Amino acid sequence: MEDVSAELLAVGLYKGEAPEGLGDAASEVVSSGDFAGKLGDTSLLYGQEQAPRLLLVGLGERESFDLERLRRASATAARRARALKLREAALALPQEARETARAAAEGAILGLYRFDRHKSGAESHELETFWLVSGEHDLEQAIEGTDVGQKVASGAVLARDLANEPSNVATPAYLAEKAREVCQRHGMQVTVLDRAGLEVEGLTGLSTVGRSASNEPRFIVLEHRKGGDAAPIVLVGKAVTFDSGGISIKPSSGMEDMKFDMSGGAAVLGAMEALGALDLALNVVALVPATENLPGGDAYKPGDVLKLHSGKTVEIVTTDAEGRLILADALSYARRYEPAAVIDCATLTGACHVALGDHASGLMGNDEGLISEVRAAGEAAGERAWHLPLFEEYTEQIKGDVADIKNSGGRFGGALTAGAFLKEFADYPWAHLDIAGTAYGKKGNAYTPKGATGAPTRLLVEFLLGRAS
Ligand code: BES
Ligand code: MN
Ligand code: ZN
Repeated sequence: MEDVSAELLAVGLYKGEAPEGLGDAASEVVSSGDFAGKLGDTSLLYGQEQAPRLLLVGLGERESFDLERLRRASATAARRARALKLREAALALPQEARETARAAAEGAILGLYRFDRHKSGAESHELETFWLVSGEHDLEQAIEGTDVGQKVASGAVLARDLANEPSNVATPAYLAEKAREVCQRHGMQVTVLDRAGLEVEGLTGLSTVGRSASNEPRFIVLEHRKGGDAAPIVLVGKAVTFDSGGISIKPSSGMEDMKFDMSGGAAVLGAMEALGALDLALNVVALVPATENLPGGDAYKPGDVLKLHSGKTVEIVTTDAEGRLILADALSYARRYEPAAVIDCATLTGACHVALGDHASGLMGNDEGLISEVRAAGEAAGERAWHLPLFEEYTEQIKGDVADIKNSGGRFGGALTAGAFLKEFADYPWAHLDIAGTAYGKKGNAYTPKGATGAPTRLLVEFLLGRAS
């Protein structure tokens, strides 16, 4: 190990392997069995040659090692250094490449994330610097990877911040303001439609869901035009800043979590932040329909029939299936861009959370190639998505009695009937991510504290990076 002047040096060790060149103490910690090298294991040694503190960090089995494990190990090291109230720490990269530097940077930044701006006695100590140490011959690669990792993480951090904000702060107008900031930072175009604008454009789903709310709805459009005359990629994110269920009101227990019902929109704004920072040579349009879903004297009601932006009519079975209404408008609005591909993400159904648990987003769509591309992007980013079917029978299930379609197909296959609903509005290559189980959580992991995870921001950015190369 080269000389590193940091208050703490973290070194990853694979399970069951003896450390090399780290000194007797490190060897003894391992040979004694006190440190097994399991992912998440740590051992802190003092008085070593390399640094005042040497932190051994378990990487798990060498054969199962991947970038996701590195993100977690990096987060573990950064958090430990912060807990020790250090100002700086270093991590020796375990393998030599651009991608490991990127993953380590992402893991450290995301692992150090805290949402404490509303806490008066907030823990104020921050780790100021986290060095990544690479071999000299691939220094340039490591620097490049670190830069990409920092930019990707900045997008996920923005998504977490937006999603963690309570609904009295993160209103539709607030999201529009944040979108403007993203666009100003990165030279993008921004258009925000207010209530009058929604009427003009015929975005009936959005204006109807938002009708009874004092915090008025917005339709937010961001355009990154760096791809010449190529057909754009369109990202769509559901941003229901609070979903009470409306007249079909939800049970009160746990309703506070419905502030996270704008996580899809937050992820899309996060992805645009990263895209702008990375300055990718692509055309990308982001559409974020933003609204509250509240009961009220002017609220829409079960049994109502709406004519959506596309011209299709919908019978409202439940006002709690509001997300698909605002997404349907955004999806048909997207047609004007003649998109190469459209990806929407939404905390759309509790059924998807039941099906896949916390560990994967539901992935549906109308184009096998795009679906595999999105799945692979999720795998690479550590934000898994799993393909679910959209059989014709699910479309049968949402045939309307008095209108073209209805906004609920009942309990069974709830994630899929929601996907089938959206499919009615997508006449281009399209993929849908149901993030109800992945966008936020009660229990975090090494680089995801509880609350908003930022998912699927990094999946979206990975997808865009793939399209840009
Ligand atoms: N925002 C919810 C989905 C949701 C529920 C996300 C729980 C995260 C956790 C969505 O608007 C909704 O209410 N969906 C209903 C659809 C049903 C009424 C057809 C649902 O999942 O129960
Ligand atoms: Mn709902
Ligand atoms: Zn909702």
